[in-house]
Amino acid sequence: MSGPVLTRTVAELRSELTRLVAERDAHSVGLVPTMGALHQGHAALMRAARADAPVVCASLFVNPLQFESPLDLELYPRDLDADMALFGSEGVDLVFAPEVEEMYPSYPDSPIVRVSSGHMGQILEGASRPGHFDGVATVVSKLFNIFDPEGPARLRAYFGQKDAQQLMIVRRLVADLDFPVTIVPVPTQREESGLAMSSRNLLLTESHRQAATALSEALFALRDRAAAGEDWNLAALRRQVRDADEVILDYLEVVDPGTLLPTSRTPALALIAAYVGGVRLIDNIEIPGP
Ligand code: PAJ
Repeated sequence: MSGPVLTRTVAELRSELTRLVAERDAHSVGLVPTMGALHQGHAALMRAARADAPVVCASLFVNPLQFESPLDLELYPRDLDADMALFGSEGVDLVFAPEVEEMYPSYPDSPIVRVSSGHMGQILEGASRPGHFDGVATVVSKLFNIFDPEGPARLRAYFGQKDAQQLMIVRRLVADLDFPVTIVPVPTQREESGLAMSSRNLLLTESHRQAATALSEALFALRDRAAAGEDWNLAALRRQVRDADEVILDYLEVVDPGTLLPTSRTPALALIAAYVGGVRLIDNIEIPGP
């Protein structure tokens, strides 16, 4: 197996994509946008894409626009060789890994025109990370334009439910700006401990990794209480997470899955964010209706 084609510029990517689509007479193209430091959560997206689409592409770009803190951007884990190996083993055909100047020619100045994620980008994660979702919406819009297969082939883009607010905003982006892209959600992949897989887990020590299970435990407890028809007792669960060693809770909320506003009804989405050993982690779980 020769492995995926690695492209660094928009022009290269477009010409390889056109060639592959024609060669395979492809009716659809699957796209898995990533920031690298790949793990089995990303692999699940690639497998879903491969099951659907005759041409599978991925992007690998640590998008500075979605980092509010320069230190967070600098510390973000990077390993191109390991990532290319995983892309290859999951059957990805084409990888787009641009330098920052290819995506943002005016870098480090911000691009003049950017996409706003509106009020949905300002609550929950957005409240703690101002500008984060505008940065995501901007880069995802660029990726959808860059990967536009033209002709009759349709673009399908795969996003993880692990980043539930991001997924909702990307769906709104597609609807509100008429991108001809089908968004495909992929369930959250977890470690055996329940910890949601994340590139940021690489930054955790072993003891922090254990402490981090407090997040998924709180979510599972919420879901189980709701399933049993019991009071969620959000306040007690928040206290439980706050009391866990080395965990600093940012929020634990139960929200309406359509609006992301707090709710006491089901179906709902429970979302949590916390710092563990200084690393920001997020997780969420669906709470089914009665
Ligand atoms: P990144 O954090 O690399 O995640 C890339 C994709 O993998 C996202 O759709 C994310 O939801 C999904 N993912 C991550 N962990 C997962 C898990 N445990 N289970 C299932 N899916 C998981 O999200 C981003 O990058 C960026 O914001 C991006 C969309 C690429 C824009 O820059």
